[in-house]
Amino acid sequence: MTTLLEVEDLRVAYGKIEAVKGISFKVEAGQVVTLIGTNGAGKTTTLRTLSGLLKPVGGQIRFNGKSLKKVPAHQIVSLGLAHSPEGRHIFPRMTIEDNLRLGAFLRKDRSAIEKDIQRAYDLFPILGERRKQAAGTLSGGEQQMLAMGRALMSQPKLLMLDEPSMGLSPIMMQKIMATIAALKSQGTTILLVEQNAQAALSLADQGHVMEVGSIVLSGTGRDLLHDESVRKAYLGED
Ligand SMILES: Nc1ncnc2c1ncn2[C@@H]1O[C@H](COP(=O)(O)OP(=O)(O)OP(=O)(O)O)[C@@H](O)[C@H]1O
Ligand SMILES: [Mg+2]
Repeated sequence: MTTLLEVEDLRVAYGKIEAVKGISFKVEAGQVVTLIGTNGAGKTTTLRTLSGLLKPVGGQIRFNGKSLKKVPAHQIVSLGLAHSPEGRHIFPRMTIEDNLRLGAFLRKDRSAIEKDIQRAYDLFPILGERRKQAAGTLSGGEQQMLAMGRALMSQPKLLMLDEPSMGLSPIMMQKIMATIAALKSQGTTILLVEQNAQAALSLADQGHVMEVGSIVLSGTGRDLLHDESVRKAYLGED
């Protein structure tokens, strides 16, 4: 197995408050790895640090064998790390197609870009049907699909998804999860942050449970799904 991402003793702080307190984990190429945990555990902070938006106060991040310490945020995408952020952040006045094109802003291979736009429409047919419509007219779940599609347009080696199922109906959520499974089977490596532990662990090769800035439990998705403490704390069982 090739290790694509290696996080070692990562520490991130907002002023004096340490939000991530020395976490370590790996993502192997081709895997889906999930971070689950309660509100405020540090999941989003971790993803924002990996994509260069926050500077760590300690620890190491290696992506594809290279330290990200001195790499500015705008270059991290070009190394193959894409981030679909919490709360979507699409551009509401631009068309769906233009939002997708923005995801490919670093690429020059025009015909391959057109193919990937088509691929996004294959994954999410609704985006194709509405391609010329302002993105702000999409429903919440459809905007989530667009955010994922846009992240894929950079042809990432690693796709980071922050709560892709947030605010979605059960059917939409199933659709998003099925899409993640399809991307995995096409060979995309995914780091998935989810509140929906059941769905995330069912998909994941590897999972980590975060609590107040630390990883408190790690295992295969299946092991964590059957772990008693996880079932009690995250799957609503007593
Ligand atoms: N910009 C900020 N300034 C100060 N503190 C922050 C900031 N952003 C996050 N925090 C704090 O850092 C901690 C971790 O937040 P983070 O957003 O990473 O959690 P999370 O695991 O993604 O939670 P959720 O599941 O609710 O999205 C929280 O205590 C939060 O209040
Ligand atoms: Mg979050």
